[in-house]
Amino acid sequence: GTGDLADRIDRLATVVEDFPRPGVRFRDLAGVYAQPATLGAAAHALATAYRDAFSHIVAVEARGFMVGTAVALATGKPLVLVRKAGKLPGPLRSVKYDLEYGEDVLEMQESAVPPDGRALIVDDVLATGGTLAAVAKLVTESGAAVAGFGVLLELAGLGGVRRLHPHRVVALQTDR
Ligand code: PRP
Repeated sequence: GTGDLADRIDRLATVVEDFPRPGVRFRDLAGVYAQPATLGAAAHALATAYRDAFSHIVAVEARGFMVGTAVALATGKPLVLVRKAGKLPGPLRSVKYDLEYGEDVLEMQESAVPPDGRALIVDDVLATGGTLAAVAKLVTESGAAVAGFGVLLELAGLGGVRRLHPHRVVALQTDR
């Protein structure tokens, strides 16, 4: 069941204290990617949670790409890549978003998600929600709808789910 999957993700997502900076508690998901059966089960769980409510999978650089690829393989639905500035050929839509220090830009190809599309937006980890909120903006500016968000791990207490409201968020494991 999904409970088993949550436990597996929890066990495989190592805690690294003081990385990449002192005071930060980093969750390293390398162990999940080292176990393709778990990554595949995670993709299946996200796809099942959203049934057929989505037409496209939108994944965000870099760590969201593994999750997006796995969901695309599990569903056969088209995968769209959102990348950091300067990586994708145009025409593009861009959005600025806040990082812990400063800001950055994410880009998506203009016609990647059609106006009648419904995007399931995926990433590895949800923290403050700044990244996924920016991706949602790219999708809605395309005229498409956001079906919801799917992540392997949510770091609770940073306001991510609240920030993404009223969209649905499915997190396979929550770190409290
Ligand atoms: C990490 C992670 C999420 C984001 C979560 O990516 O993979 O995309 O941060 O944080 P947020 O909810 O506070 O926005 P990062 O920006 O480190 O980029 P990377 O995937 O390229 O390493």
